[in-house]
Amino acid sequence: MTKKVFMNTMGCQMNVYDSTRILDALAILGYEETQKPEEADLLMVNTCYIREKAADKVFSCLGRFQEIKQERKKKGQETLIAVAGCVVQALGDAFLKKAHSVDIAVGPQSYHKLPELITQFNRKNGRKTIAEFTSIEKFDALAQPTSHGCTAFLAIQEGCDNFCSYCVVPYTRGCEYSRSAEAVLNEARALVDTGAKEIMLLGQNVDCWHGEGLDGKTWHLAQLIERLAEMDGLLRIRYTTSYPVDITDEMIAAHRDIPKLMPYIHLPIQAGSDKVLKEMNRRYCVAQYLEVVEKLRKARPDIAISSDFIVGFPGETDSDFEQTLAVVDKVRYAQSYSFKYSPRPGTPASLMKNQVPEAIKTERLSILQAKLLELQKSYNQTFVGKNLPVLLTERGKQKGQLNGYSPYLQNVHVSLPEDRLGDIVTLHISAATASSLSGETI
Ligand code: SAH
Ligand code: SF4
Ligand code: F3S
Repeated sequence: MTKKVFMNTMGCQMNVYDSTRILDALAILGYEETQKPEEADLLMVNTCYIREKAADKVFSCLGRFQEIKQERKKKGQETLIAVAGCVVQALGDAFLKKAHSVDIAVGPQSYHKLPELITQFNRKNGRKTIAEFTSIEKFDALAQPTSHGCTAFLAIQEGCDNFCSYCVVPYTRGCEYSRSAEAVLNEARALVDTGAKEIMLLGQNVDCWHGEGLDGKTWHLAQLIERLAEMDGLLRIRYTTSYPVDITDEMIAAHRDIPKLMPYIHLPIQAGSDKVLKEMNRRYCVAQYLEVVEKLRKARPDIAISSDFIVGFPGETDSDFEQTLAVVDKVRYAQSYSFKYSPRPGTPASLMKNQVPEAIKTERLSILQAKLLELQKSYNQTFVGKNLPVLLTERGKQKGQLNGYSPYLQNVHVSLPEDRLGDIVTLHISAATASSLSGETI
């Protein structure tokens, strides 16, 4: 009899990718995914530790899982609760002590061991956590994935050696590791063969990818993308996240020369004050960042640029914050993500004495977000009246509507029948809001 698994994925795109791999691994044990937690024999949450709120969400999800487990027990149904991801890695063995309802916990580098742990657990071997850093083993141990739609994520690099003073990722994902070009190309082939038209290459610091090339020499990201672009059936290539000063001239040239490489780059600046950037342990100043933006725009004038921002980092003054607003005006971001600084256990910034009061963080965030939203809206409005190629990726909220993405990663709605999913269609853009465009076929 097939068993069912419910997966709640929190956090970044890397976690979304990991969840697809976990589900593929569980399929081997006979688990089928369900969207209804009440009917799941295995309840799973893939966790994020990046901000305090993210970590809190995990424990409220586990509370809900526990209630479902008890309800099911009344009906004589057994339920297993398993947790994966960065919270497990950060807390290690302490996690199971804190989360009493959890049977099995695996860190982001150990999820390939999940099927084995489930089998052992069912043989009454007890609760267990595995939180090791064994990335090489992980990727080798997993079967080739299948694409779950026409856009697919593919992790090419994992971990981070940058140690920004606020960030937990180097502690949860370990040190930087690049997969080989062969492994990446084989996985890309498997994804395209099972329906992917677009691949998003993932890495915490993706520009640092330096895997073994097909010729045995070390390749860089631009070489990998060049080779990927030759793959039949793959129509669009994207990558994220870029550390601003690690982008090479070859990557900038790739944006000019490779049509399949989409004109979009996520280039998190975090803050617009050199003093704050230094305290954050970011390896660039604002002038260097703007230079990268200029080079990218020279190579590919229409490139859309997005960013992440942190407001209220320890010691951030009003004038530091105003410098962030000034950078936003200069770059005119197409999209952005912004957060209040959240002190994280074990990071140097959490120990800094000059923490910014919550009320000031809240105020700065709302000022910044209003500005970013306004810019995003005016950016989107520049496309009204133009034609854009849109990859149709999913059903829309309304009946008869499909959603897709423009080359600039704008969400576009259109009325078209479902059999057009997976196609790239040219749409005439008729309306724009801050969050999406609407188009019609021409
Ligand atoms: N590797 C990427 C970011 C990964 S984390 C990079 O270097 O840009 C995603 C985003 O979360 C970061 O860009 C940052 O803006 C935000 N973030 C990370 N730690 C944070 C913290 N302690 N408080 C608030 N935001 C944080
Ligand atoms: Fe975190 Fe900095 Fe690494 Fe990004 S570059 S994952 S913000 S430590
Ligand atoms: Fe969160 Fe881990 Fe990603 S902490 S942002 S899920 S790398």
